[in-house]
Amino acid sequence: MDYVLALDQGTTSSRAIAFDREGRVAAIAQREFRQIFPQPGWVEHDPREIWATQHAVALDVIAQVGGAARIACVGITNQRETAVLWDRATGQPVANAIVWQDRRTAGRCDELRARGLARVVQQRTGLVIDAYFSGTKLEWLLDHVPGARARAEAGELAFGTVDSWLVWNLTGGRVHATDASNASRTMLFNLRTGAWDADMLKLLRIPAAVLPRVEASSGEIAETEPSLLGAALPITGIAGDQQAATFGQACWSPGMAKNTYGTGCFMLMNTGAQRVPSRNRLLTTVGWRGPQGQTNLAYCLEGSVFVAGATVQWLRDGLQIIQSAAEVESLAAQVDDTDDVYLVPAFVGLGTPDWDARARGTLVGMTRGTGRAHIARAALEAIALQSADVFAAMARDSQIALRELRVDGGASRNNLLMQMQADFLGVPVVRPQVTETTALGAAYLAGLATGFWRDADEIALQWQADRRFEPRLGEGERQAKLARWREAVECAKGWARP
Ligand code: G3P
Repeated sequence: MDYVLALDQGTTSSRAIAFDREGRVAAIAQREFRQIFPQPGWVEHDPREIWATQHAVALDVIAQVGGAARIACVGITNQRETAVLWDRATGQPVANAIVWQDRRTAGRCDELRARGLARVVQQRTGLVIDAYFSGTKLEWLLDHVPGARARAEAGELAFGTVDSWLVWNLTGGRVHATDASNASRTMLFNLRTGAWDADMLKLLRIPAAVLPRVEASSGEIAETEPSLLGAALPITGIAGDQQAATFGQACWSPGMAKNTYGTGCFMLMNTGAQRVPSRNRLLTTVGWRGPQGQTNLAYCLEGSVFVAGATVQWLRDGLQIIQSAAEVESLAAQVDDTDDVYLVPAFVGLGTPDWDARARGTLVGMTRGTGRAHIARAALEAIALQSADVFAAMARDSQIALRELRVDGGASRNNLLMQMQADFLGVPVVRPQVTETTALGAAYLAGLATGFWRDADEIALQWQADRRFEPRLGEGERQAKLARWREAVECAKGWARP
């Protein structure tokens, strides 16, 4: 058996990648699926499309490597927080999935905050109260899908983040499970006890009967239904995509950090066995839980930027000033600076550090001289500036002066953006040779559990830098840029009506 199969279920596409023992990509397949926007601020996926596309790409990759007999085990990684609710008897979803970007429960979150619950929620779950997390999304489904609450209480419905939905389908409805990293994004999971929190369930009116079993991120979790992938394959790794990327970037020691440039940007710093509570509105989250329960357990501090790469998609599909995402780099390079124009891509509100569900996209500082190139450059700068805000919060919280930042994800291939990132951070940015670190992390978690890879030392040697971007901006200029950006962010805040 020569490969580990990683299933990477992202916000806009389902991917499957087979990795060989050297951690190289041996086969890859990808399929996009529909983004459903029923109202401003709402974002949904059809769970059946998630499963159909994921199943199809898995079959494609298995065929490319010569059949299921070549696959040692399966690792799953996924868009996090997105809430799926389905019927245990039929396996059919009772509604569309409410996606992590969806803001429909912002009002409910305001109410919880107004009741003074922010502190207790943070102490228990490590999270800030925000519509981002699954808890209020699940509560909304139970309240709005006819009959759902009674059926959930009777044990007829199952809830899961996307990993659970995939495990359920991959096992033909035999296994209802999640892992600790995904559970820690629900606002229902107690970080200290490592189990569902009865008081949080009560607060959000969630019947315990809907919840999946919480498993380790690396260990024997389930076996796939033989007819689906051509053999009964062991599922031995699960992690949320950002935690998986942290693992795939070999950030295994406290103080190591990575930033992934996907739909959003997610910066995670390993804090080891310590749950570091944030004073700067970062999240405390499970990185991964190893097979022996508390051992190999890592926590992370996380900063979540909701819209990053999606800004470039908006330039392409919304504003239509570029034809392909790759064009943004050359267009932005046509001008030396933005002429004081700032684009705040708060299309779905703002995450870390502002946590403003009512902020909306804002373009400020335009003059008659402003052209496409300035806007393209402002869009790239916004990605890097949002990440710089998170980086500063992380340094304050952890008391660790981060000496470099590892980067990955689609937009990390944009050299101009990576140079801007190094400039705005004031520390080097390092891009690895394999930028498929999310899928690679899931493969590592799965392969370590079965002995496909002996131990972390073996895979540590596989991480190789591709390019290092050194900061070139003077400190005074850097500070001035960050301060001006914060003025622009203030313009975006609170725009949407309650
Ligand atoms: O928290 C949301 C995150 O997991 C989504 O990641 O890569 O699908 O944009 P991505």
